[in-house]
Amino acid sequence: MVPVLLVLWGATVIPPADLLPDPKLSLLPPVNFTIRVTGLAQVLLSWEPNPDQEPRDAHLEYHVKIHAPQDDDFETGSTESTCVAPLHEGFSASVRTILQEGHAPLASSWVSAELQAPPGSPGTSVSNLTCATSTTMAGGGHRRPHRVSLHCTWLSGEEAPPDTQYFLYYRYGSWTEECQEYRKDPTGRNTACWVPRSSISSKGHGWLMVHVNGTSRTAAIRPFDQLFGVQAIARANPPTNVTAQIQGTRLSIRWDKPISAFPQHCFDYEVKIHNTKKNYLQMEKITTNVFVSAIDHLSKYSIQVRAAVSPACRTAGLWSEWTPPIYVGSEARKPLMEWLLILLTVTACFAVLICPLLCRICHLWARLFPPVPAPKSHIKDLLVTAHCEKAGSSATETEVISFVEGLGCEVLENSVF
Ligand SMILES: *[C@@H]1O[C@H](CO)[C@@H](O)[C@H](O)[C@H]1NC(C)=O
Ligand SMILES: *[C@@H]1O[C@H](CO)[C@@H](O)[C@H](O)[C@H]1NC(C)=O
Ligand SMILES: *[C@@H]1O[C@H](CO)[C@@H](O)[C@H](O)[C@H]1NC(C)=O
Ligand SMILES: *[C@@H]1O[C@H](CO)[C@@H](O)[C@H](O)[C@H]1NC(C)=O
Repeated sequence: MVPVLLVLWGATVIPPADLLPDPKLSLLPPVNFTIRVTGLAQVLLSWEPNPDQEPRDAHLEYHVKIHAPQDDDFETGSTESTCVAPLHEGFSASVRTILQEGHAPLASSWVSAELQAPPGSPGTSVSNLTCATSTTMAGGGHRRPHRVSLHCTWLSGEEAPPDTQYFLYYRYGSWTEECQEYRKDPTGRNTACWVPRSSISSKGHGWLMVHVNGTSRTAAIRPFDQLFGVQAIARANPPTNVTAQIQGTRLSIRWDKPISAFPQHCFDYEVKIHNTKKNYLQMEKITTNVFVSAIDHLSKYSIQVRAAVSPACRTAGLWSEWTPPIYVGSEARKPLMEWLLILLTVTACFAVLICPLLCRICHLWARLFPPVPAPKSHIKDLLVTAHCEKAGSSATETEVISFVEGLGCEVLENSVF
């Protein structure tokens, strides 16, 4: 049993004799290898099988190596290949014939081709090129309800002559166009571009190719190419209809999804709550379009929200701008309450502290200025004293009593005032 299986297994692995690479077979490199610009930041590499290659029915493939602007490496059975890359520094590649069959793949020698960098003086090309897209409503029963605007900015080359003017072209898919609305610096040179209706689709992906070239009478302006991932530069619109209300110590904030071709569930939000009184900032990241927070209701709050398409729906893009701040709550109520509280406290303190004092004063008053009948008694006392002086024994008793009363008043007087 075992030997039979081994034989069968061996039979399936051994290729038919006519496909086995001939040890004496040598592969010849392709001919007429060319690199041709076929679009903005796009080249077509093409070559032909070597006409002298034998045997003619061998299943030949090609190994392509890109050297510039960036190393890349792939194999193909076709005799042409399209590459997308910035071309302002030129493009160079090599290709060779390969035969994959058999245990040791065979390969020919390489043939190379090069696309020269476009002419231009160093330092004349633009730098810091940045682009972003945003979605707007097309309106008016358009076939596509949303349209995508494109906005790009750049800096002039440091060595660019004063009369340099720049022009921006962009390509998305097979559609190429020049920017129509430029923003200019004070010298009239284009420094930014606005394309209100670009050919980029509202849920688009892939690449956006941007090419900025220029003219000057005194120098050749070097062009500049850059590729942007369409999803990575898509800036969401801010949320709409933001409302906030305070009920007791509950602050609830609501909003609607931004203008976008993406549905409701495709957004992440950030809420920024600024307590203007305590200068305290609260930032929250959420995926729903309602946010409720417990707050100190005696403060004023400024509320802003921003949005981004969530990674669940596509590659994360850029955060939107913050919505304009809306204000809720009021600090004005606080002083009123505070005053009320202070007033109450003061009243209470007054009641607690002043009343005994008043009572004591009343008491003292009563002592200092006794009721009208009192002098009578003193007179009576005096009379008594006189009487007692005359009478003898009982007089000292009365005198002592009145002295003690007088002393008591003095002590009280000192302790009170
Ligand atoms: C290579 O290019 C030359 C000149 O354009 C042409 O005559 C020749 O037929 C081409 N070779 C192949 C194999 O296509
Ligand atoms: C331009 O880009 C360079 C390098 O990326 C950076 O260092 C520089 O700060 C940027 N300039 C401006 C004005 O953004
Ligand atoms: C700039 O590039 C565009 C698109 O490639 C081209 O049509 C145009 O002639 C170029 N302009 C200059 C001044 O090089
Ligand atoms: C904002 O609110 C208005 C009125 O309630 C409504 O018509 C509109 O559709 C809302 N906007 C969005 C984007 O939901």
